[in-house]
Amino acid sequence: MVDTTADESTDAGFESVLLYLKETRGFDFTGYKRTSLSRRVRRRMAQVGIDDYGEYIDHLQVNADEFAALFNVLLINVTSFLRDPEAWQHLRDEVLPQLLAELEPESPIRVWSAGCASGEEAYSLAILLTEALGVEGFRHRVKIYATDVDEEALAQARQANYGEREVEGVPADLLERYFEHQGSRYVFRQDLRRSVIFGRNDLVQDAPISRIHLLVCRNTLMYFNAETQAKILARLNFALLPNGVLFLGKAEMLLSYDNLFTPLDLKRRLFRKVPTHGVAQGTLFAHPVSPARRSGHNPTDELREQAFSAGPVAQVVINTDDEIALINHQAEELFGLTPRDIGRPLRDLELSYRPVELRAQLERAKVEHRPLRLRDVEWQRGPNDVIWLDVRLNPLLSERELLGVSVVFHDVSAARRLLDELEHANRQLESAYEELQSTNEELETTNEELQSTVEELETTNEELQSTNEELETINEELQSTNDELQTINDRLSERSVELDDLNSFLESILTSLRSGVIVVDPEMRVIVWNRVSEEMWGLRRDEADGQHLLNLDIGLPLADLRPLVRNALVDADSTGEVTIAAVNRRGRTVSVRVVASPLRGRNGDTEGAILVLEENRPS
Ligand SMILES: C[S@@+](CC[C@H](N)C(=O)[O-])C[C@H]1O[C@@H](n2cnc3c(N)ncnc32)[C@H](O)[C@@H]1O
Repeated sequence: MVDTTADESTDAGFESVLLYLKETRGFDFTGYKRTSLSRRVRRRMAQVGIDDYGEYIDHLQVNADEFAALFNVLLINVTSFLRDPEAWQHLRDEVLPQLLAELEPESPIRVWSAGCASGEEAYSLAILLTEALGVEGFRHRVKIYATDVDEEALAQARQANYGEREVEGVPADLLERYFEHQGSRYVFRQDLRRSVIFGRNDLVQDAPISRIHLLVCRNTLMYFNAETQAKILARLNFALLPNGVLFLGKAEMLLSYDNLFTPLDLKRRLFRKVPTHGVAQGTLFAHPVSPARRSGHNPTDELREQAFSAGPVAQVVINTDDEIALINHQAEELFGLTPRDIGRPLRDLELSYRPVELRAQLERAKVEHRPLRLRDVEWQRGPNDVIWLDVRLNPLLSERELLGVSVVFHDVSAARRLLDELEHANRQLESAYEELQSTNEELETTNEELQSTVEELETTNEELQSTNEELETINEELQSTNDELQTINDRLSERSVELDDLNSFLESILTSLRSGVIVVDPEMRVIVWNRVSEEMWGLRRDEADGQHLLNLDIGLPLADLRPLVRNALVDADSTGEVTIAAVNRRGRTVSVRVVASPLRGRNGDTEGAILVLEENRPS
């Protein structure tokens, strides 16, 4: 036994998404072809990373933007200007001139583009009609109603603004005359744009626009199942004026709707509305046999009767009193009648109501004096025996006087069966072809998506390249700054070595001197404290460095030195000296000679003072 549980639950899940869309958005997708519809729903689910229909409904509930995204996937908006150029050329060269010739010179022309997507089809129509009527003629006479169920596509259509790729199909001269070039965009001419009216119309649910001369509904029907297509086609038939033209898409053939539309050019999918005839023309008309002649029984009458009887199609003749006047051989065979039935009232015979109710039709033919045709009369003769008859009633008149009515029964069973088989095969062919076309359109969409992804990648790549180039420039600049810094560094290192040399030279001078040397800056802070000073006062160089001279805690009465040091700091030319008593590091009182000289900078300014201290040795 085959387990169908998974399939059934998947189907139920899918149906619940459709139901949800219908209930919350009023959008009924039930008339669309299931396979391609469910494929597209699954594709969207995969895009958002959801595998379960229930979860997807939750996702739709929570994310308001998801509806638009889903509709975008479901309502395939693939379109282009003058799509299928050969068909449009035929419309321009053959169909439009004929259609326009049938109209009064100034009369209005109403056109409907149903399922117009982003408007390219409607503007293509505007171009063709302007070419045929001139700008003024178009503006005064033409109204193009362009409708779609997709609001987003309609908003785009109203803008009439297209990119270079979108106008690729428009020949250069038409592009030049019908579009305004704005930067890299092309905008359809405003003066003609006014005659194109965009609006939302759901082909399944909304009433059609009426009194239409040319109805263009391309590549839209094929998304619907056969039942919905039939419903829509009946509406499109209603929308058209008698003799109106219907222009379908390449995949849409209409073979099984010959009661509504008849092909103008099947290959280009151009059809005319079938005018509604009440009664068929050209009915078989048996020669009347007058009762007067019958009574005479001359050889010609006999011949006529025999010829009538041998006729290949079943025929009975009923006189004005509704009695059977003549029965031919075929009729005897078909209905089990015999010559004895001649003269009997029709109402007494089964023939009066089987295979079709004849009496009312007979009355009509008699009153109206017109032939009547009853098509495709089905006659169930036995459990497995059905035949179809085409019944024609022809009033027999002699100079306006009614003599009787001939009823002819054509057996059309063979043709009917062939036709059924043909229609069935055609439907299969149509739906296979439509499926192929819609797959093709999906592929085109996917291709376009891929194309745009490639474009995005290209843009990103270009951006990266330019960032890379900028980085390279910055890198080069940094490299050269680095080189400069390196040079400066090298120089500084050289200087540093020189300075080190100089310092150690000075150091060795200071160390070698047998006098204490103290150097202070203009604020009297110690900047040099040599080894002899360390030894004299018991204060290390690192303890003295940076300290105010007068704050040092040593055995030298520093306050006594203040005038001397100040003098050296203020007067660049003065060198003074003083001898003072002090207590050295060993606690001995010593006499110290202090010479203070200004410390001069390169420019001669005083940058501090140099104190040289010597212990006076007793002589
Ligand atoms: C593939 S496009 C065809 C566009 C154009 N007619 C062409 O042939 O280039 C199909 C269009 O039918 C529209 N559509 C789908 N269902 C619809 C409906 N129920 N009523 C009206 N338009 C519908 C879609 O929104 C889409 O714009």
